[in-house]
Amino acid sequence: MSFEHEQVRIERGPRSGLPVIVAVHSTTLGQAIGGCRLACYPRWQDALTDALRLSAAMTDKCAVAGLPNGGGKTVVALPAGTTLGPDDRRALLHDVADVIAALDGAYATGPDVGTGPADMATIAERAPYAFCRPPEAGGSGDSSTHTAAGVVAALHAVCGAVFGSPRLAGRRFTVVGLGRVGADVARRLVAAGAELAVSDIDTAKQRLAGEFGATWLAPEAALRSEADVLVPAALGGVFTARTVAGLRCAAIAGPANNQLDEPATADLLHRRGILWAPDFVVSAGGIINAVAVELHHETADQAAARVLGIGDTLTGILRDATRAGVTPAAAALALSRQRLADPR
Ligand code: PHE
Repeated sequence: MSFEHEQVRIERGPRSGLPVIVAVHSTTLGQAIGGCRLACYPRWQDALTDALRLSAAMTDKCAVAGLPNGGGKTVVALPAGTTLGPDDRRALLHDVADVIAALDGAYATGPDVGTGPADMATIAERAPYAFCRPPEAGGSGDSSTHTAAGVVAALHAVCGAVFGSPRLAGRRFTVVGLGRVGADVARRLVAAGAELAVSDIDTAKQRLAGEFGATWLAPEAALRSEADVLVPAALGGVFTARTVAGLRCAAIAGPANNQLDEPATADLLHRRGILWAPDFVVSAGGIINAVAVELHHETADQAAARVLGIGDTLTGILRDATRAGVTPAAAALALSRQRLADPR
């Protein structure tokens, strides 16, 4: 297998002592962008593997979304059970900022699992390459609501393709993962009149199920729940040969990055007759909004219209897939390859 990444930096942060990993997969279409993830890993090597895969997915995400950007990602491997106090957090984010600054603009970061707008402002103190700072600090703010809006647009497209109507009302959805994006998607589904089941590894989130009037499920049960559409909104790697065998849904579309354990799992889903909307298409709302507002200085309404464009993009991909007799994943990757081969 070939090494695809343009550059990968791994440094032990001088302030934090933690491994800071920044992977720049591609700048073919422009500056690489991708969020900064702070998460616990058994070994730092696992964080590296994650950074390599997540940054490659960002290249496809940007290309399919039609953005003038490439893919990158930052991952900091925290030892199990770490909770960062404010001073340690600041020190770590400055370590991250220094690694990003050394890349001289090849890469810009944004929020991801474990980080938010305030952290982007901290990074920006030392590196002018951070999207989604709070509005009062000059950024476009929290990206999760825009990601959620894009997911809902994708769910309309999926329902149109599978059930012949884009209506969400009366359809059954299971949202797996109630982080910032997942909880927002759940709220929007309830508002649209959908029937909802939710789950999270954190049982404290059960409170949200009550608030939404949703059925609460344990995570393993959620993956096997009967639903029209399953919405993965937690960490990656949920679909494997084993979990795919137990699925009881017609379609899958959600914002979690890298949902498949390996690319071939898309074929398993296809053979089971389950439509899998590629995660890198569904989850692009956050970056689409940030780039529209911060790089192109568009209004909130213009940016929101671009985010909703995810629906048409996905409809086109699903149509291409049906015509060519390939999986939606293959059709989406073909679109990405085409954009990367002919940047304009
Ligand atoms: N977490 C976002 C994603 O995976 C990353 C991001 C959002 C980067 C907004 C820049 C701006 O797409």
